[in-house]
Parts: sequence; structure tokens; C-alpha cells
Amino acid sequence: MIIKTKNDIPSSEITDPLIFRDRRKIIKAMLATMLAGSGISPLLADDNKPVWADLPTCDIIADSLTPTPAELVKNYTNYYEFAFNKKDSTKLAQNLITDPWSVEISGEVESPGTYYLEDILRQQMLREYIYRFRCVEAWSMVVPWVGFSLGNLLKTVKPLSTAKFVKFTSVYQPETMPKQRSNAMHEWPYVEGLRIDEAMHPLTILAVGMYGDILPKQNGAPLRLVVPWKYGFKSIKAIVKIELLKSPPITSWNRFAPDEYGFYANINPAVAHPRWSQNSERQLGSGFFTPRRQTELFNGYGEQVASLYSDMDLRHFF
Ligand code: MTE
Repeated sequence: MIIKTKNDIPSSEITDPLIFRDRRKIIKAMLATMLAGSGISPLLADDNKPVWADLPTCDIIADSLTPTPAELVKNYTNYYEFAFNKKDSTKLAQNLITDPWSVEISGEVESPGTYYLEDILRQQMLREYIYRFRCVEAWSMVVPWVGFSLGNLLKTVKPLSTAKFVKFTSVYQPETMPKQRSNAMHEWPYVEGLRIDEAMHPLTILAVGMYGDILPKQNGAPLRLVVPWKYGFKSIKAIVKIELLKSPPITSWNRFAPDEYGFYANINPAVAHPRWSQNSERQLGSGFFTPRRQTELFNGYGEQVASLYSDMDLRHFF
């Protein structure tokens, strides 16, 4: 797991709000500066709330992951609002309207509000996060995301001590999303959730880009969640609302098939999906004769996140 810090760049240092009103330009400018390696140190929000104060800090580990070829990641997507097969969802997602884009942050917070994504980005520091990504369907990939810490964003709205869970809601755009029109499969919009300590963990990010560029629409533009130790369905795309709650939200896949898709969805090779094993995974881009990869508990991020679950029997909390 890799958080590259030497190229960190606070957006406020590189975008003049009077010059850049445009998200694409902001992200491009941030990425360009990031990739050039500025070495500017992070601007971190106040850290005065006890609820996540004891979380492990995230040590930087040498980058040893080779990203999956970008074209594979861009053309093999799960996006059920558009289609139930990976090729059509990739194609149809191009119709999504992502401008303008705002995000409501509300619930158990001191300063609720609705913010243009551009304004959020100005306050956050973009980094490249090279993470393994493991789908519940037993395939995997390695993606160099570009994004920022969800925890740092949440701190800016000052969560109350009553905030125990975070609910994420995807966009409802039936005019461009055919499966929302036919109401097939899910109750729309797509909803996901995390416990507050999972949301505040330094590995949990909101991505706005990948492979050093803007996030493609089919991969969740303009803003998606990435939680690398959980199955991919937790990584909700096209987020428009983030609510801090007292109790756990009902999430889309859990509502659809509670026996198959749990709220936690922590990657665990020892807990099989009712219809297939989770013991190993097919790596996207690997050759026909390449053996499957042994799936790791927490997708290999156990050192960083296992302490979040020390009081839970992981066989029963799927
Ligand atoms: N978010 C929304 N809004 N709609 C979806 O259908 N699919 C999920 C997740 N986020 C999904 C979503 C699933 S099942 C997976 S595996 C990942 O997105 C896939 O991300 P990718 O298409 O970028 O590989």
C-alpha cells in the first residue's frame, strides 16, 4: 500500500481561485505539479476530535506494486446504473453529466453544507495512492488513484461525537442512467456506508483521478470512494451526498442480498461468498497460464487496519 508523500501538493498552493473556476483545470494543474514533484508539505486540518485520535498512523511503505494497464481498468467496469455488463457500462457511462458537481455533507456535524467539488479540492491535498483493488467477484487489479483523505474532508465539517457511521449516496440521474429508469435490481440511488473510524482511517480516500489523469466517467467521476481493504462494491462512484449518522445506513448491496453482501465487506479469504470461494483472485491483465493470486486478509492491509476489528469475530461480520 502506498501513499506517495514526497509529491504531495496542497491545492491552495497551486490554484488561484480567481484564475481557476474550472474543475478540470484545477485537477490538471494539481496533477501536473504533483507529478513534477514539488515536495511541499501537507496542510492538515485540525485534529482535535478524540474519536479517531487513536487510529494507527499510516507508515509509508516502499512502492512495490505494479499498476494494472490503464486500458484494462478503464474498460472493465461495474456500474449498475448504466448496465449489468462491464462493456456496456463503460460505454454508457460517457453520458453521465458531471458538470457542475456539488456534494452535500450533513447529519451529525457542526458545519453542514453543500460544496462545489472545485471548492472542496482547493482545500484538500491530492496524492497518488497505489492500491490493490479486489472485487467480490474474485478478480483484482492495482490502481494508481489520485485523491485525498476522506478523514481530512470530514474534519473540515467538524463531526459531532454522535457521528458513528457515514452514509454515501451516488447521483440520481435517470435521464442518463438507464437502469435507474427501469428501476432494475436496486433501489436507486446507490448507497454505501462505513463506520466512522473506517471513514477516518488514513487509507480511506476520495478519488478524483487515476493514472495521473482525471477519473474516467465509467470509473466513478467526478468523485468516488476507495477503501482498499474492502470488496470493491463499497467503493461507491459519483458521490453527491455524505451524511454522518448515529446508526448504520442500509446499503444497496446489503439490501439487495443480505446473505451475500455484508455491511463490512472486509476482504477475507476464509469467508466464502455463498456461491463461490474468496480464497484466490484472477488478476486483470495476467496471462492465461498465470496462477491466481492468493487473496489476503484485508487485501494485504491488515497491518494498517486489523486493529479496527480487534473486538469482532471476522467469520461472522461479513
Ligand atoms: N458505484 C455505483 N454508484 N454503482 C455501481 O454499480 N459498482 C461497485 C463500485 N461502485 C458500483 C459502484 C462495484 S460492484 C465495484 S467492483 C466497483 O465500483 C468497480 O469499480 P470500477 O468499475 O472502477 O472497477
